[in-house]
Amino acid sequence: MANVMVTGGAGFIGSNIVDLLIEKGYNAAIVDNLSNGKKKNLDKRVKFYKSDICNSNLKKIFKKENPEFVIHLAAQVNVRKSILNPEFDANVNVMGSINLLECCKSFNVKKIVYASSGGAVYGEPQYLPADESHPINPISPYGASKHAVEHYLELYWKNFGIDYVSLRYSNVYGPRQDPFGEGGVIAIFAGRFLGNNVPVIFGDGEQTRDFVYVGDVANANLISINKKADTKIFNIGAGIETSVNEISEKLQNILNSGISPVHGDAIKGEVRRIYLDVRLAKKELGWKAETTLDEGLRKTIDWFRGGLHERTKKGLFP
Ligand SMILES: NC(=O)c1ccc[n+]([C@@H]2O[C@H](COP(=O)([O-])OP(=O)(O)OC[C@H]3O[C@@H](n4cnc5c(N)ncnc54)[C@H](O)[C@@H]3O)[C@@H](O)[C@H]2O)c1
Repeated sequence: MANVMVTGGAGFIGSNIVDLLIEKGYNAAIVDNLSNGKKKNLDKRVKFYKSDICNSNLKKIFKKENPEFVIHLAAQVNVRKSILNPEFDANVNVMGSINLLECCKSFNVKKIVYASSGGAVYGEPQYLPADESHPINPISPYGASKHAVEHYLELYWKNFGIDYVSLRYSNVYGPRQDPFGEGGVIAIFAGRFLGNNVPVIFGDGEQTRDFVYVGDVANANLISINKKADTKIFNIGAGIETSVNEISEKLQNILNSGISPVHGDAIKGEVRRIYLDVRLAKKELGWKAETTLDEGLRKTIDWFRGGLHERTKKGLFP
């Protein structure tokens, strides 16, 4: 089976992708600097390189592993941090990606599957659901840096023949999610309810998102490795609009919790409504999200239950 390198493979989404690759018999190698990823997310059968994607030693890892495919998820993922320190954000997300692309060029990688963000590149949607042709209008440096890489991918494809697919994820949730990440609301609320703490809903809670289960996202990556598609950019989401209030109610019901959330101040600059048009991925990749929100929430809660004590102790639930 083919060699696949996964950058950011110790993180939430990356580690779920790696698990699927191993299950399907691929040889996977991970590059991750563990700035946010965790060693305990790593399968022992996988070769792990603790390295920064910005580092020039990346070439040595490529030489050793000779990957046919690269799944690129390593990134600075914190929107607030990107506003406070756009230089750091661009350094990791743009310069790190260029360093990676140069390695892909030198070692004849066939294809790169890139983790982009539907939530961050479209900004405040002009229409809903947002399809792949929706104007690009990021409202954070994070959105700008995630999108910039799509241009570089296009250039490396046109100039050097490295094939690519960019998957614009909606809000991903599921086991191993870090409550501080992009789609953190489910992880945060699950932790609060499970720990008998009152969750805080920012604003009126009627803001909406498109929540997609991480197992479905992993599957989209696997399909993208193998599928020859002329289209390069796909939205990956459930294609369903769900409000934060609905998420809170669902979690409350699943957990049979007597705790009610309180409402706090709305977050300035937050997109009010977004969900993605996912028909293109269905048509061209034959992919769609299979996990219902109720099913996914149950799986997520089961996982959090397993590690609740440890996580609460470490202050991992804000
Ligand atoms: N979680 C979401 O809802 C969501 C939505 C859209 C896009 N994405 C994208 O998916 C990818 C994975 O996100 P995630 O939610 O799993 O976050 P995550 O923080 O769990 O994963 C990112 C991983 O990259 C690693 N990393 C960060 N900087 C690095 C560097 N310089 N060198 C090497 N490794 C580095 C981290 O240690 C971490 O393991 C990111 O590219 C993110 O932009 C996530």
